[in-house]
Amino acid sequence: MSVLTTVLSREIRKTEETAAMERALQKNRLTHHLMPPTGWLNDPNGLCYFKGRYHVFFQYAPFEANGGLKFWGHYSSEDMVNWRYEGVPLFPDSIHDCHGVYSGSALVDGDKMHLFFTGNVKMDGDFDYINNGRQDSTIHVESTDGIHFGNKEVAIHYTEYPDSYTCHIRDPKVWKDDQGYHMVLGGRKKGDHGTVLFYRSQDLKNWEYDRELTTENTFGYMWECPDCFELSGAKVLSVSPQGLTREEERFQNIYQSGYFIRQDGNVQEENFREWDMGFDFYAPQTFEDAKGRRILIGWMGMPDADEEYTNPTAEQENWQHCLTVPREVTLKSDMLYQWPVEEINTLRGEATELTAENTEIEAEGPFDLEVQVQGERIALHLGENLWLEYADGKASLHLSEAAGAGRKIRNAQIPSGKLTGIRILVDTSAAEIYLNGGEVVFSTRYYPENLKQNVKIDADNVHGKIYRLNSMTYTEN
Ligand code: FRU
Repeated sequence: MSVLTTVLSREIRKTEETAAMERALQKNRLTHHLMPPTGWLNDPNGLCYFKGRYHVFFQYAPFEANGGLKFWGHYSSEDMVNWRYEGVPLFPDSIHDCHGVYSGSALVDGDKMHLFFTGNVKMDGDFDYINNGRQDSTIHVESTDGIHFGNKEVAIHYTEYPDSYTCHIRDPKVWKDDQGYHMVLGGRKKGDHGTVLFYRSQDLKNWEYDRELTTENTFGYMWECPDCFELSGAKVLSVSPQGLTREEERFQNIYQSGYFIRQDGNVQEENFREWDMGFDFYAPQTFEDAKGRRILIGWMGMPDADEEYTNPTAEQENWQHCLTVPREVTLKSDMLYQWPVEEINTLRGEATELTAENTEIEAEGPFDLEVQVQGERIALHLGENLWLEYADGKASLHLSEAAGAGRKIRNAQIPSGKLTGIRILVDTSAAEIYLNGGEVVFSTRYYPENLKQNVKIDADNVHGKIYRLNSMTYTEN
């Protein structure tokens, strides 16, 4: 350990210990969403299942709730509901990543966990930091226990990327197949065209540029956090594009996250589907677990959204943002559906039946509501804080002035044309709404004054249940 790492790790522990003492007073701390012990969290990183445990790393700025120098934080779990905080495995402590250990992924190969990430370096001087002044090497570390990592090695030096690119290439996602190892990186080509770049390797050390993939017309100036996987025969490319023009029912946030199902290996902009239609969802990553499930976790946050909406936790409780619950991804009718992994059901407690005669109930804290619905017009209200409306094949999510902290309305077309099912996971300051078994999802932060809220459904017919949702457990390593 370098002196810098020792000092930083001591400082993080102190900051987290102080935060631990303050936790009891923090009403917005989440019960079933992973959040930073203190400070700021963004993208999920290094998701994998390794030697009997799920690993969730995340972009972490422990010293500042409004973002800052990025480290990787780390949670692990046997079952995705009982979590252990493992501390900070990666520090910005080398000449290749001194301004941030940026996003990346894990590859489990044999008895090792490999992490690949982007080292962010901003040079001092008069630079625009797009075409010059920034280094973005891809870095590799490995581990045999998933907790302690060896030396940082440069896998791709920033000078080796193709000349046609700006200094914005990052967020490696790595996988293995019969041909060897593969990596996809997100990029901003000169001329502001978002793309992904593919690299190949036979030994995880030497990486060779293979090719780029992008849409015919420019679809955003930058594609962040790419992911590439096959699911039930479909070849999927997930990206987080920046620079799309906002529309009424699509691309409503400042930046988007979505996927293409590739046709003959290519991607067409008209085939791009957003993963999530809520206010707070970005930079998702997937992995395959030991049961063969494709699991997605997203960042429940939005970069650069603070002119429109905010998270009061940053000022009031010194932390900001969280991750979505792990969602199983499946392919249905040429689309990807997302659904909370079944382990979340183990948190369900006491249940109350919701029927056409009983459509209103007072909830007192976090809950999981799952109902089948019928009707031309349907509405679901959480007190006056948040409501979902459905009519004419469209759904819209509304937040009140008080609970939204700037969030107002998000719309979504329902591809199958009709609303038949609603599931909503409601946490202290977050809600995930799944329509039609995960055909459309809205994720949002929200800040109700009181967790006692009247849950009310208006529909021609309703049947299902609302369960109290117990807290996930957190321990510290
Ligand atoms: C996405 C992102 C990534 C980058 C990381 C830095 O939110 O901008 O592209 O690696 O965050 O924290």
